Amino acid sequence: MWDVGIIGATGYTGTVLVSSLLTHPDVKISLITSNTYKGKKISDIFPAFRGVFEGMLEPTAEKHAGKCDVYFLCLPHGSAMETAQALYNGKAVIVDLSADFRFEDVGLYEKTYIPHRAKELLPQAVFGLPELYRNKIKDSHLIGNPGCYPTSAILGLYPLLKEQMLSGDIFIDSKSGVSGAGREAKTGSLFCEVSEGFKAYNVGVHRHEPEIQKEVSKYSDAKIFFVPHLLPMNRGILTTVYGRLKEQLSTKEVLALYKTTYFGEPFVRVLDEGLYPDTRFVRFSNYCDIGLKVLDDGRIVIISAIDNLVKGASGQAVQNMNIILGLDETKGLRQIPQYP
Ligand SMILES: NC(=O)c1ccc[n+]([C@@H]2O[C@H](COP(=O)([O-])OP(=O)(O)OC[C@H]3O[C@@H](n4cnc5c(N)ncnc54)[C@H](OP(=O)(O)O)[C@@H]3O)[C@@H](O)[C@H]2O)c1
Repeated sequence: MWDVGIIGATGYTGTVLVSSLLTHPDVKISLITSNTYKGKKISDIFPAFRGVFEGMLEPTAEKHAGKCDVYFLCLPHGSAMETAQALYNGKAVIVDLSADFRFEDVGLYEKTYIPHRAKELLPQAVFGLPELYRNKIKDSHLIGNPGCYPTSAILGLYPLLKEQMLSGDIFIDSKSGVSGAGREAKTGSLFCEVSEGFKAYNVGVHRHEPEIQKEVSKYSDAKIFFVPHLLPMNRGILTTVYGRLKEQLSTKEVLALYKTTYFGEPFVRVLDEGLYPDTRFVRFSNYCDIGLKVLDDGRIVIISAIDNLVKGASGQAVQNMNIILGLDETKGLRQIPQYP
């Protein structure tokens, strides 16, 4: 049994991690932390855990170093880098769900976020998107778990990027449920601010744009246009990518490329021609569903759907842990989407 700690267990990603890890046969949740609720049982804060998991919340502090084999950091950026610094010893595995270890280029991180205060750890960090970086992930002890929008966009684009099959700029239109903003009280997340409406936000300045661009730039000179939207639902991301192929191919041919690229991937489902993803059919699961259509003149539309809290955060974090520990990647992640 591996001892795992969830730092920031009372946020949305933290609670999803608790639920997932409780179904994992090879791990024991030995540490859960919260500053706001320290000294309380997690089941008192989240009654869903009543009678199932009654763990006591400890303060989020440096003294937890050395207690666990794996730590999940479910904290805001900035706090995560300092916590990682306190916990990293080269032996324990650290999976950081914030942006603090997602960028190889510290300058780009600092331009997008804040000054980095744990720069010395960056060379150890790997961008934790298993479908692209599994080999690097398995040898790492520090994972920068990707953002939710970047996960949906990069998985949707990757087969075409790696084959250099796209020409021109790439348009990425993403819609997210409100849990993407976290559990912390914010006016923009209030029911009346979100329900019965649908809007674009942070146009041209969203922090996930550089994260997607840096991955695209590994294969292509294309610039991306990324526009996130807020949907009046709790969870889920639907991303629609618009691009142009260098040569005219049929939908069948491009789908064949996607199916080959993702063959054997436990969590990527490439849909058959004429079928398109729906957030309802990935909800609560670690799946990323992808569908696409080629139009005339080589225009292509690719659509992907994930649950932002699972494949977009905590599920992907467990998948990364499984890879590093040499476990079956699907352990703790076998929840099938729940519908209706
Ligand atoms: N929500 C998503 O869909 C999603 C997807 C991908 C990545 N992420 C990233 O994952 C991280 C966690 O997101 P979340 O949605 O779970 O956030 P959240 O719901 O707001 O929870 C944040 C957690 O961090 C703790 N915390 C807040 N400020 C802190 C501080 N200054 N120092 C130490 N602890 C602090 C909070 O608990 P206490 O106040 O009780 O200590 C809480 O447990 C963020 O970096 C976020 O960007 C989120």
